[in-house]
Amino acid sequence: VRGGVNLNKIGFIGYGSMGSMLIRGFIETGQVRQEQIVVTRKDKSRLVEIKETWPEICIAQDAVEVIKNAECIFICVKPLEYTNILKEIKPFVYPHHHIVSITGTVAIKNIEKIVDCGITKVMPTIVSEAKEGISLVCHNSKVTEEASRRIESLFGNISKVWRIDEKDFEFASEFTSCGPGLIAAVFKELVDAGLRHNDSFNNDQLTEMVLQTLYGTAKLMLEKKMDFRDVILRVATKGGITEEGVKVIEKSLPQVFNEMIDKCMNKRIAVGEKISDDFK
Ligand SMILES: NC(=O)c1ccc[n+]([C@@H]2O[C@H](COP(=O)([O-])OP(=O)(O)OC[C@H]3O[C@@H](n4cnc5c(N)ncnc54)[C@H](OP(=O)(O)O)[C@@H]3O)[C@@H](O)[C@H]2O)c1
Repeated sequence: VRGGVNLNKIGFIGYGSMGSMLIRGFIETGQVRQEQIVVTRKDKSRLVEIKETWPEICIAQDAVEVIKNAECIFICVKPLEYTNILKEIKPFVYPHHHIVSITGTVAIKNIEKIVDCGITKVMPTIVSEAKEGISLVCHNSKVTEEASRRIESLFGNISKVWRIDEKDFEFASEFTSCGPGLIAAVFKELVDAGLRHNDSFNNDQLTEMVLQTLYGTAKLMLEKKMDFRDVILRVATKGGITEEGVKVIEKSLPQVFNEMIDKCMNKRIAVGEKISDDFK
């Protein structure tokens, strides 16, 4: 990577679950060419893997080298590593830079305390690896119309984009971004219960039954604009078999989901407070 800011380059600080998904998604949808990407990660020995997949990609030795060589920079590190990265790049951030933050617990106003440039907060979801899901987006006042369109178009090709207020990010993230993990945990319980009740079908077969049914239910609801109540009414006829199961779910799950949302939100507040201290 040579010095000087290149307006066509997109930088990635962090190449974990999210950084790698975004790079792959942007390249696969033909929106970004490999040679436009500058990427770094902590474990330099694992940068070799990236070169094997995309030989033209630019590898930077550290975050500073990324900021010096790209205009739009995605920060894809864990919350507790965030301030260190910002402090490291701070002397090299100029007003033309556009920082894209994918860490829900880091408030834009805290990032603005350290760097003065356009800042977009995006909450991606791993289901965008399959070009699905909703990416939540908001911008600070320094992001130009053109820059906001560019970012929303990048995410629009791997997901649906919802522009929402930053104050609603954390709650909405439970559904869109934590959602796949929470949904997987719920339906793993269903499969496990199935395994306890029968010996004809194994884990893979029951998982396939649940997945095909989940996928079909989602597709049907979206195509026919149905809500969950509509599906329940169609399947769980009065006095029928499904109704017995629905009654159990309606009795027990509200408490489980209330507790789940409370615990996740409390954890967010705790992480957010810890991170806010780093910004003082
Ligand atoms: N996972 C999700 O579903 C999801 C969804 C939405 C948002 N997010 C957010 O996305 C962010 C990243 O999450 P993740 O799941 O992708 O985490 P991850 O898999 O742990 O990846 C973090 C990356 O940061 C790199 N890193 C750490 N310190 C660095 C430094 N000083 N310089 C350069 N790179 C550094 C790590 O490098 P090494 O790998 O070399 O150690 C790693 O590649 C988090 O803030 C998370 O809240 C995650």
